[in-house]
This record gives sequence, C-alpha cells and structure tokens, in this order.
Amino acid sequence: MSQPERTLVLVKPDGVERGLTGEILARIERKGYQITELLMLNATPQMLAEHYEEHQGKDFFEPLVNFMASGPIVAAIFEGDRVIEGIRQLAGISDPTLADAGTIRGDFGRDWGESVQKNLIHASDSTLSAEREIDLWFG
Ligand code: PPS
Repeated sequence: MSQPERTLVLVKPDGVERGLTGEILARIERKGYQITELLMLNATPQMLAEHYEEHQGKDFFEPLVNFMASGPIVAAIFEGDRVIEGIRQLAGISDPTLADAGTIRGDFGRDWGESVQKNLIHASDSTLSAEREIDLWFG
C-alpha cells in the first residue's frame, strides 16, 4: 500500500502572536486531516532562506524572511488523501484582504499597512515541495 500524502503547515509568527494557532490547526483537523508531528520554534534567517529558496531575488523575499524570523512559528506535518490541495483550499489565496470568507486567511487575515504580507499560514504547494520542506523542518 502507498504511503499517505503528507504536507508541511507553518502557523506564521502573526498567527502565533494573535493566539490563532489552535483555531488554525483545529480547522485542518476538523476537515479530517491528521497531525503526525508538531513543534514550536524560532526559525533562523538561513533556514527561512532555504525554505523560500524559489523566491530569492523577488522584492518580497527579504521582508518575508524578516517577518518569518520575527517570532515563534508552529510547524506541523499533516497527512491524508489529497491533503496538499485540501489544506491550500482551507488556507485561501496569499493576499489576506482578497482571500475568500470561510478560508483561514479570509476569516482572520487583513492588510496591516506594512510592506510585508501577514497571512497566518504556509502550506506546501506540491508533493515535491512538501517532502523538501518536511525534511527541512523535521529532518
Ligand atoms: S509568487 O511570486 O506568485 O510565487 O508569490 P505568492 O505565491 O503569492 O507568494 C509566495 C510566498 O511569499 C509570500 N509573499 C509575501 N510575504 C511577505 N510580503 C509580501 N509582500 C509577500 N508577497 C508574497 C506569500 O505569502 C507566500 O508565502 P507562503 O508562506 O508560501 O504562503
């Protein structure tokens, strides 16, 4: 039998600071996906640069790394059939002002008038990214 699909979820520093960790993880659990590993940590800029390597050189890269290093992050591995697509759907689109109501970003995120986009959650976007990111955060 094949291994269940896995994905990496990060509750970003804004989610942790605003006390939304439980709510965010609970929404994913209530959808039916299972947490198999969980930790809270302060990520280093080096680790974040590796995590976001595909975005190096973009305007938002440095603000994004600084924001992600600004406070604790909760990292989780979730598993379940089509979990990658399922959690991306629950998260909503990147821009929290425009994310649909009913999604995590749409319900709890907004623009705060800063150059950095604070959008509460990261979720891997493909099986390749998921395995790479799980290795980075839990390897
Ligand atoms: S892109 O260029 O289309 O790939 O960008 P996008 O998929 O929208 O975003 C990729 C990740 O970068 C984050 N992002 C930002 N962070 C901070 N500030 C700004 N301005 C910004 N723009 C994009 C976005 O939230 C995505 O992060 P993750 O953690 O992957 O969701």
